[in-house]
Amino acid sequence: METVIELKDVSKVYDLDAVKVNALDKVSLKITKGQFISIIGPSGSGKSTMLHMLGALDKPTSGKVFIDGQDLSKLSDDELARLRGEKIGFVFQFFNLYPTLTAVENVELPMIIEGVDNDVRRERSLELLKLVGLEDRAYHLPAQLSGGQRQRVAIARALSNKPSFILADEPTGNLDSKSGKELIDMLIKLNKQQKTTIIIITHDEYIASHAKRIVSIKDGRIFKDRTTHSNGG
Ligand SMILES: Nc1ncnc2c1ncn2[C@@H]1O[C@H](COP(=O)(O)OP(=O)(O)OP(=O)(O)O)[C@@H](O)[C@H]1O
Ligand SMILES: [Mg+2]
Repeated sequence: METVIELKDVSKVYDLDAVKVNALDKVSLKITKGQFISIIGPSGSGKSTMLHMLGALDKPTSGKVFIDGQDLSKLSDDELARLRGEKIGFVFQFFNLYPTLTAVENVELPMIIEGVDNDVRRERSLELLKLVGLEDRAYHLPAQLSGGQRQRVAIARALSNKPSFILADEPTGNLDSKSGKELIDMLIKLNKQQKTTIIIITHDEYIASHAKRIVSIKDGRIFKDRTTHSNGG
């Protein structure tokens, strides 16, 4: 199986004045193509820190991160930014949509940055909105959408550059349980139909029960890594 991301003995120490936090402690993890993984663990256990490492958003204090076989420690900040734009789709708890842009314009943003042609990007954005069930909301502003709909726009946007994988940090954290469930069902569908690799941090039992692999973190360490028999990818 093709490895998409690998953490090798990754540690992250946050050093703030007198307080030193070992947020990650020699974590090793291999994620293969097409997996649907959920990362669970108590508050402060290092989940978001780990996601930042997986997404090249921050650098480890020690250890190495590989994305598609590439050693991130060998890349410049510019190269890292390019890699993030090309390979990773991010979805965060707060939707991070631009309030003055319509749904379809929000989805187009990463493609504008990548220099994709006008017509191509509009067509692709509309297709993605259709995929997340929002074709009839393409010209709505974020404020004119429900929370669940906004989060689906964020997912369409995360998919716009055909990323190798999606990283999501508590994407259902601000949704009611029905919208949260719809969002997850959509991610499961994406994972199955498009074979998109999905890594999701969650406190949500429903998500965790649908992931095929569940990685549990405590005190900056992986203490359980199990593969389940659910229908996730
Ligand atoms: N930028 C930072 N500077 C200093 N300490 C930090 C920083 N970010 C996180 N920490 C500390 O590192 C530890 C891990 O934080 P992290 O955000 O990874 O936890 P988490 O598992 O995502 O928690 P939550 O479920 O509450 O989001 C925590 O003890 C936190 O206080
Ligand atoms: Mg967190």
